[in-house]
Amino acid sequence: MGQAKGKALFGRAQKVIPGGMYGHQSTALQSPSTPQFFSKAEGTYLWDYDGNRYIDLMSGYGPNLFGYAHAEINAAFASQLAEIDTATGPSARIIELAEAYVDQIAHAEWALFCKNGTDATSIALRTARAYRGKRKVVLAKDTYHGAADWCTPFQTGTIGEERSHFIYHEYNNAESLEQAVREAGDDLAGIMLTPIRHEVIVDNGEPTAEYAKCARRLCDDHDALLMIDEVRAGFRLERECSWCRFGVDPDLSMWGKLLANGHPISAVLGSEKARGAASKVYVTGSFWFSAAPMAAALKTLELIQTTDYLERTIDLGLRLREGLDSISKSAGLPISQTGPAQMPLVMFNQENGQRDIPITYAFCEIAVEHGVYFHPFHNMFINAAMTAADIDQILEVADRALRSMPARDAIEINPAARAALESFVAES
Ligand SMILES: Cc1ncc(COP(=O)(O)O)c(C=O)c1O
Repeated sequence: MGQAKGKALFGRAQKVIPGGMYGHQSTALQSPSTPQFFSKAEGTYLWDYDGNRYIDLMSGYGPNLFGYAHAEINAAFASQLAEIDTATGPSARIIELAEAYVDQIAHAEWALFCKNGTDATSIALRTARAYRGKRKVVLAKDTYHGAADWCTPFQTGTIGEERSHFIYHEYNNAESLEQAVREAGDDLAGIMLTPIRHEVIVDNGEPTAEYAKCARRLCDDHDALLMIDEVRAGFRLERECSWCRFGVDPDLSMWGKLLANGHPISAVLGSEKARGAASKVYVTGSFWFSAAPMAAALKTLELIQTTDYLERTIDLGLRLREGLDSISKSAGLPISQTGPAQMPLVMFNQENGQRDIPITYAFCEIAVEHGVYFHPFHNMFINAAMTAADIDQILEVADRALRSMPARDAIEINPAARAALESFVAES
């Protein structure tokens, strides 16, 4: 596969974009052949500027649920765009969309809309503090809630004081959660949690029902708000809030990424209890009221309600998981596949159970070179435009990758990426 044009773009980006690229779409920590720029996206496929096609297991880091360039969703977007989008006041789409989420999600009695997941988590944080004028918020250690000063995992340029009223606990450890709440004393504003553990590198997966119920009870006992950050997992596990499986409803839930299948919109949904606080906080943004992404979100929600996307993405994820399992067994390379099958985190392990960074890297490098965009340390996302044939093609490439795997010592990794990933592994 040629990559001359992609490399030239990379060189140009180095001159005019800090670090060549910023944030999660920088490929600096991925294998060297990973393309950073794409010219086209359709269904589950991406094309780079050299014309290479990739089966994309990342789904845009989450926003792609029904397939890139989805005809019906994009038609809803385009027809709204032709009428009114960003203007001096919102259109009625904002009410229709709020009504639709209130109908769909049990705890939701109101909705407000913003653009990114970080907007939604930051609004929830402020609302929880406004609720009873309390300050302490309990978070899980190392959980990602976005890139604002209060939550970015890389703290360069922040002053640390934004975090002075957070208390951290071990995710899925009810005792540790209770201890954190005890520390907050009578100043507990809320608890913010993700519905599943989906951090990079570490094993992903669901918490216990006991933990979820404990979080609910502690918030009730302390007149504090339970906030569930559904930005990554929302509608990928359930057509409801993810903790409906435990019978636990939050007071606030935060959504983003796939709400409009890639068009920019995120949301905070809230219960009656939180309505007063949400009405008092001042939150806004120039593009938060744009109507076209709302029209796209309405169509996306209709597809969530009326199609079997959820069951299909689970089935496809299981097909991938079972296939990779058997390929890795026959190659004698232990694989770790965690998280829900439709949001898989796939990494290779050494004999001692530690993450095998070189093998995982080399695997992703070979996969990319054969047209499969596989991520070496972030959970991936199966989308509903994928087919069993796509999964089988991924498995064929995986089989080839494991058969042609170089010896661990012969695998070269960019030293900066190796150091960053090994420090992640050591800390986790
Ligand atoms: C759980 C969770 N919360 C919040 C965010 C932040 O979302 P955004 O990047 O849209 O600001 C993310 C992004 O990955 C996320 O996974």
